[in-house]
Amino acid sequence: MKLVTVVGARPQFIKAAPLGRALRALPGVQEVLVHTGQHYDDTMSAVFFRELDLSPPAYHLGVGSGSHAAQTGAMLPALEAVLLAEQPAGVIIYGDTNSTLAGALVAAKLGLPLAHVEAGLRSYNRAMPEEINRVVADSLATLLFCPSPVSAVNLAREGITSGVSVVGDVMYDAVLAAAARSRDRPTLARLGVQAGGYVLATVHRAGNTDNPARLGAIVQALNDLREPVVFPVHPRTAKALAALGHPLAAHVQPIAPQGYLDMIALERGARLILTDSGGVQKEAYWLAVPCVTLREETEWVETVQQGWNRLVGTDPAAIRTAVATFQPTGTPPPVFGDGHAAQQIAAVIGQAWGGSKQPC
Ligand code: UD1
Ligand code: UDP
Repeated sequence: MKLVTVVGARPQFIKAAPLGRALRALPGVQEVLVHTGQHYDDTMSAVFFRELDLSPPAYHLGVGSGSHAAQTGAMLPALEAVLLAEQPAGVIIYGDTNSTLAGALVAAKLGLPLAHVEAGLRSYNRAMPEEINRVVADSLATLLFCPSPVSAVNLAREGITSGVSVVGDVMYDAVLAAAARSRDRPTLARLGVQAGGYVLATVHRAGNTDNPARLGAIVQALNDLREPVVFPVHPRTAKALAALGHPLAAHVQPIAPQGYLDMIALERGARLILTDSGGVQKEAYWLAVPCVTLREETEWVETVQQGWNRLVGTDPAAIRTAVATFQPTGTPPPVFGDGHAAQQIAAVIGQAWGGSKQPC
């Protein structure tokens, strides 16, 4: 059984690693990995292929950056050519990026079975480009893999019940696989910080970086904190910060985007995490690190309901107060599966597509 996996952005490399491993363990499965080229810096792409157990891309489409239409549009004919050449039994897409959208459109138009990993997530905010990508991917997918019961309920509200499985979150599988390897790394010492002695911040959501008032408020809030802040800066954010011209205070340490193992080490060592990332909110939860989210809503509502994530938006006073006072206690319960989501997904795919190759 030949499968095509479409990835292109940082979190998708991380999500594709555990499922790739589980698929390779199934007899007779060949995974053809297609990298759209949406992310291309070494620190946004190649580092994950070096660190994680990922097959090298069989195809690299080299699409690069652009407007939503230009970037997604460039992916379509290139992906179509790959799928026509490979004639896979099905296509696997992850999450909610423009690479997800392109994979969904091309597979559906060719009549190929389509599996969406991380199905059913909703922010109910259509101003987010990701929300549009998710809604399209979920309405076209034939297999929908939900990380929690909440996402299956979201799908049911939209009338999507067929092909839906609640399997847990492949990012949890990835964190568990990286936990021991990340412990040996000298990440904190290299940055001159101590475990429990700093705040880790990440910002990259377009709604924050592309709005100077919101980005300025976040910078103000980081500058107002009275403890070290380690800040791995996404390239989108680096450009926006340069344009904003609002300098970071000395206690805020901007660093290059980190590889996955260093990032997990930094998350585990943080006293608290400030972020607008989807993946980082969940990793904070799994690592039992308090998370303050720089957004008004989240798709990962369980992290808030369980008391380990607080949504504050970008008001500097609200951020300062949350950073100073938010101290969840106890252990976050396992609401995103048991760390074996990838095996469950592979089993469902093997069963559903094992004998179902259809010509494009
Ligand atoms: C994308 C996803 C977002 C996801 C994020 C993960 C969409 C619409 N957005 O956002 O859902 O959370 O990836 O990180 O798909 N750039 C570089 N080098 C790179 C990659 C990007 O310099 O390797 C810069 C370019 O200026 C580019 C900008 O970052 O224009 C934004 O990149 P893009 O892939 O369009 O969106 P992200 O913000 O990364
Ligand atoms: N990540 C990383 N290095 C960084 C920042 C994030 O390895 O410098 C990892 C992070 O641990 C998580 C994933 O990238 O696994 C989240 O990706 P991102 O925040 O870019 O996107 P989102 O999850 O919001 O779509």
